[in-house]
Amino acid sequence: MLPSLLSVNNIQVNFQFNKIMKSQKCIRRKKGSIRIDIISAVPQLLESPLNYSIVQRAKEKGLVYIQVHNIRDYATGKYKKIDDYNYGGDAGMVLMVEPIYKIITKLKRERKYDEIIFLSPDGQTFNQQCANSLSLCKNLILLCGHYKGIDYRIREHLITKEISIGDYVLSGGEIAAAAITDTIVRLIPGAISDETSALTDSFQNSLLEGPIYTRPAVFKGWKVPDILLSGNHKKISEWQEEQAIKRTRALRPDLLK
Ligand code: ADE
Repeated sequence: MLPSLLSVNNIQVNFQFNKIMKSQKCIRRKKGSIRIDIISAVPQLLESPLNYSIVQRAKEKGLVYIQVHNIRDYATGKYKKIDDYNYGGDAGMVLMVEPIYKIITKLKRERKYDEIIFLSPDGQTFNQQCANSLSLCKNLILLCGHYKGIDYRIREHLITKEISIGDYVLSGGEIAAAAITDTIVRLIPGAISDETSALTDSFQNSLLEGPIYTRPAVFKGWKVPDILLSGNHKKISEWQEEQAIKRTRALRPDLLK
């Protein structure tokens, strides 16, 4: 038996797991029911993250529909201008209000959106809980800033939520939009082969994942822990839980509070 922390956390972990399993039942939805519209000035930045691996397979299975909108397609005038100087003098170009307004109002006429999200370093910090709740939505818009930012009137009048992926400044919101989309998509039932594996991800139960291994059992003298080769499933899952707690205590003690 592990120290008391384990028993305390055992209860906590099982409780959290059951809670997630219950909510998983309610989030079971018809195929293809999440639609994500991403608005960007540099849509090329989204190409690889949205067209490979789990996200691509989820699109193919009809579990998610992702549409990327290029802001420039909504610009007017000979030069299709989408940015302009910053009123007030600071260096850096600002994405103009009109093309973004046109895209968002067009999309809103077509369907009802649960959230219209602007990706910004000053938004609410993204985490697993936020991903879980967004994965329950049917229609989402993710608006990526670029250059110095976007005209503030968009944020005041059209945006319903602002999300940051961490306390650092990216060149634009595209990488953040890709991270958020990926995190949401893997939560859709059927998006990953083993449905329960999204639930055992690090952070899903406030614990980091324990160490994982595959064959060979010995490589250059580096051995896989004996317990994992024992075939005793009960002991193995106890060991995995102990390891998860140990790693969390060492690396992210704040998650145990
Ligand atoms: N755009 C620029 N930096 C960002 C961040 N940290 N999170 C979300 N969007 C951003």
